[in-house]
Order: sequence, then C-alpha cells, then structure tokens
Amino acid sequence: MTRSPSLVPSPAPAPAPLPLIRLASPDDLNAICRLDTDSFPVADRFPRRTWRLLLGASAQSQSSLTLVATGPEPLPLLGAINLLLRRGSKVVRIYSIAVAAAARGRGLARHLIAAAEARLPPHITAISLEVRADNEAARALYHRVGFTLVAPLPGYYADGADGVRLRVGRAALRSHVGPP
Ligand SMILES: CC(C)(COP(=O)(O)OP(=O)(O)OC[C@H]1O[C@@H](n2cnc3c(N)ncnc32)[C@H](O)[C@@H]1OP(=O)(O)O)[C@@H](O)C(=O)NCCC(=O)NCCS
Repeated sequence: MTRSPSLVPSPAPAPAPLPLIRLASPDDLNAICRLDTDSFPVADRFPRRTWRLLLGASAQSQSSLTLVATGPEPLPLLGAINLLLRRGSKVVRIYSIAVAAAARGRGLARHLIAAAEARLPPHITAISLEVRADNEAARALYHRVGFTLVAPLPGYYADGADGVRLRVGRAALRSHVGPP
C-alpha cells in the first residue's frame, strides 16, 4: 500500500540551541585541556598546570578571565577564551581563544570576544594579542572585530615562526562586534 502524501506541511526542524557563554570554573579544566589539544599544534598548547592556574588562583585574583561556550551538557565545550589582566594596566591581552572544529564558522569566536569585553572592568581601554603570522583564520577573525597591526614579531614563537602583535581599542571593538 502506498501512503498518500500528507497535506499538512511537516514542521520545520527546530533551530540548533544557541551556545551558552559563561564564566569558566576549575571544573572545566578537563574539557578546556581537551579543546586545547584538539585546537592547537603541540608547541602552542598550554600545559595542564597553566590552565589550572588560569582557572584557579589567577581567576581568583582577577588577573585571568576565562569564558566557555557550551551546547547542551554534557557535550564537550564548543569554545573558550582566556584574557590576562595586569594590575595597573589599561590593556588586557587575549591569551587563548579556540572554537571546536565542528562549531567553527558560525560567529562563536566573535561572540566569545564580545562576551569577554562586556565583562572587563571599566578602566580597561584596549585589548592586545599575539598571533602566528600564518594563522589565516585567526587573523581574519581579529581583523573582523577591529584589531590592527601594532608590530611584526619576527621569530616570536619557539619553533622560530613569525608572529604579529595586534591591538584594538575597546570602543572600536564594541562597534565591530555589536552586543554580546
Ligand atoms: C580562529 C578561530 C577561533 C575562529 O573561530 P570561529 O568561531 O570559526 O570564528 P567566527 O565564526 O566567529 O568568525 C568570525 C570572523 O572571522 C573570520 N574567519 C573566521 N574563520 C575564518 C576562516 N577559516 N577563513 C576566513 N575567515 C575566517 C570571518 O571574517 C568571520 O566573520 P563573519 O562571521 O562575519 O564571516 C578558530 O578557527 C579556531 O579555534 N582555530 C584554532 C585555534 C586558534 O588558532 N586560535 C587562535 C590563536 S591566536
């Protein structure tokens, strides 16, 4: 028996839930290390003890801010960003940002940067970072959110690769990313 086609249109598939961006906690250590392993070449990964410090003592003293993006738990993290703050400095540094391969190309890194900016103390006026000169995806991301070149960094990385230092003013960043 063939079934006659239904006259009732089938409902559109539900849109994927938006990732939740929240402050990281020491409980995220394993998931962040996994994201790091999946996202960076060996030479660029942070040792586990570094992440433990960033999520623990440094976060408590407000010298480190880490946000994570999650889908429905308990899936692996979709993304993470870490910024370093120095007492007395008006400039913060993006120390790490990564988005899981399956979640890339949907604006998540941009949202992580916007969410981090929104949590910075009011005295912060600019954000800086270093990136491998040949990391095209990351450079396109930073260009998209308003970063400009401050200095080339020849041989900056341990493997001899060149880097670049980029910077963006807070107001300029906001105007590029829109609301978090
Ligand atoms: C770099 C990285 C974080 C980007 O994450 P993402 O979520 O895919 O980036 P987004 O979707 O938010 O992209 C934002 C913008 O960046 C640019 N961009 C991002 N990936 C790009 C790519 N592969 N090619 C070209 N442009 C790209 C686009 O201009 C995009 O703007 P649009 O959304 O208006 O098109 C991700 O590729 C990653 O985790 N890479 C490995 C880790 C890494 O290199 N981190 C940076 C170390 S400094």
